[in-house]
Amino acid sequence: MVIKQLPGVWWGVLCTVWDVRTVLAIGVGAGDPELLTVQAVEALNRVDVFFVFDKGESGADLDEARRAILLRHAPGEKYRVVEVPDPRRDRQASAYTAAVTDWRDERAARLERAIETELTDGGVGAILVWGDPALYDGTIRILDTIIERGVVELDHRVIPGISSIQLLAAHHRVPLNQVAGSVVVTPGRLLARQLARGLDDTVTDIVVMLDAELVCTRLRGQGFTIYWGAYLGSDDEVLIAGELDQVVDDIVRTRRELRERKGWIMDSYLLRRART
Ligand SMILES: C[S@@+](CC[C@H](N)C(=O)[O-])C[C@H]1O[C@@H](n2cnc3c(N)ncnc32)[C@H](O)[C@@H]1O
Repeated sequence: MVIKQLPGVWWGVLCTVWDVRTVLAIGVGAGDPELLTVQAVEALNRVDVFFVFDKGESGADLDEARRAILLRHAPGEKYRVVEVPDPRRDRQASAYTAAVTDWRDERAARLERAIETELTDGGVGAILVWGDPALYDGTIRILDTIIERGVVELDHRVIPGISSIQLLAAHHRVPLNQVAGSVVVTPGRLLARQLARGLDDTVTDIVVMLDAELVCTRLRGQGFTIYWGAYLGSDDEVLIAGELDQVVDDIVRTRRELRERKGWIMDSYLLRRART
């Protein structure tokens, strides 16, 4: 199937003529309002309604980040903001993927109701997505689910953003891959599983996200260098890099202190060892 994405202006005209509601998933970068692309800024200024899921413990800070982005890039407040209550997620569930799917389906149902009642035909809605919508984010799948259900007629578009991975590499001033090498991107949970089975020698460069346990502490003595970053792109950014055996205790302590101070933490890291 060949999909051609129309330039923003033409697509806007067509949606209005066809009277189709559209929802944009706009990647807004991972922490700094200066990280929005020109496409993202143009998209923000076409939006009638921003749909916002409330966000647990990091909510107040993420709300603030969103406000800062809109204030700076979509001045004039020609839009409305509609809050969509976030369903509770079962974090204790043994079947992780099934629990996430249930949670996403419930989010889709709630967003669908909000779109139906708050967005007029031909209107443009948007969801601001932290970092890039293609990376560990459920927004695209939620929009697909709504479209598949067919209760509201909807078109959707994805505007890419600068992800935390790109920030991590840029702020540490390192490339993600070694020459012609591969990079594994993984949540901490899956890295832990991989380590239990034994890490393949060919895996030399690993980006770890969503890691509440700091699984890297299990990699002492294996020749890894670590590039760690918390709250990347924000005023609170903290970076630590070095041989893992030398700096990992510092990372554990720093992470604990930051988390206690702020009440939540977002961190990622790159693990690297020489290719054999
Ligand atoms: C649900 S994922 C979202 C990723 C996001 N879509 C992106 O493009 O970066 C959340 C994880 O991304 C990473 N992350 C997101 N923003 C970050 C930031 N500003 N600093 C460090 N890590 C971040 C953390 O590993 C966090 O657990």
